[in-house]
Amino acid sequence: MVKKGKVKKEERKPIIEVRKIKKTYLLGETKVHALRGVSLNVYPGELIIILGPSGSGKSTLLHQMGALDIPTEGKVLVDGLDITQMDSWNLSMLRRKKMGFIFQSFNLIPTLDAVENVHIPLLPTNVSEVAAHRRAMHLLKEVGIEDRAHHKPNQLSGGERQRVSIARALINDPEIIFADEPTGNLDSKTGEKVLEIIRKLNEEEGKTFVIVTHDASLVEFADRVFIIRDGLIEEENLGGKNGHAYKSESVELNKRKRKK
Ligand SMILES: Nc1ncnc2c1ncn2[C@@H]1O[C@H](COP(=O)(O)OP(=O)(O)OP(=O)(O)O)[C@@H](O)[C@H]1O
Ligand SMILES: [Mg+2]
Repeated sequence: MVKKGKVKKEERKPIIEVRKIKKTYLLGETKVHALRGVSLNVYPGELIIILGPSGSGKSTLLHQMGALDIPTEGKVLVDGLDITQMDSWNLSMLRRKKMGFIFQSFNLIPTLDAVENVHIPLLPTNVSEVAAHRRAMHLLKEVGIEDRAHHKPNQLSGGERQRVSIARALINDPEIIFADEPTGNLDSKTGEKVLEIIRKLNEEEGKTFVIVTHDASLVEFADRVFIIRDGLIEEENLGGKNGHAYKSESVELNKRKRKK
């Protein structure tokens, strides 16, 4: 008989498996060892945080997990499929089907307005322009800036731009969202709004998040927190989700002061 109840973590299938990956960049004659053997699993619905000093390999790791780059050694499996063996067409299909990306620098197209920036990832698909526009407007509403739909990026504040980039990351209804310093360029009040959007998407819509950040406030909403140094994972800790008190041996947490 099949037992009912919550499936234990060990029995769940990871959505992403990172197996002993190394990434070495060649700069002329010099080798830069950005990742030196990193392994971790991400399970569906988790919010994972990667913390670490500048240059420790955080963005590099995110890019390998998000199929934006291929490691020099090791494997990355997404839903059990080894993405290091895929060609660039299959990689881009995988990203389009499953993944959303939020970058610190927003990466918006300056000549397009907010709603066009949000629906641009749908243009190469068979979704009609009208349907794409409707969904983009809905997402701008979700992130609270539908009244800015016809502003170009240079007519938006930093927080508004970040919210456009979150809406864009959601346009294909991805299972996994990768975010590189999603609050890095924002003042603390706008940063809190963005955190709240991320928390809701994770807790209420079950989206899986892998987030690189210096913002320790996010630790509160995380399932697990990985600390990376010099291309290696140094610590894995439980985050604050489900009432855990986050503890780290090596990280001084610099939390935002939350308004009660
Ligand atoms: N394309 C590249 N060519 C050569 N070296 C690179 C390249 N990209 C990154 N590196 C080097 O790899 C190391 C890891 O870089 P990475 O961008 O992953 O760091 P990070 O942890 O994201 O840092 P930050 O917090 O400053 O964004 C750094 O030493 C960096 O200089
Ligand atoms: Mg980085």
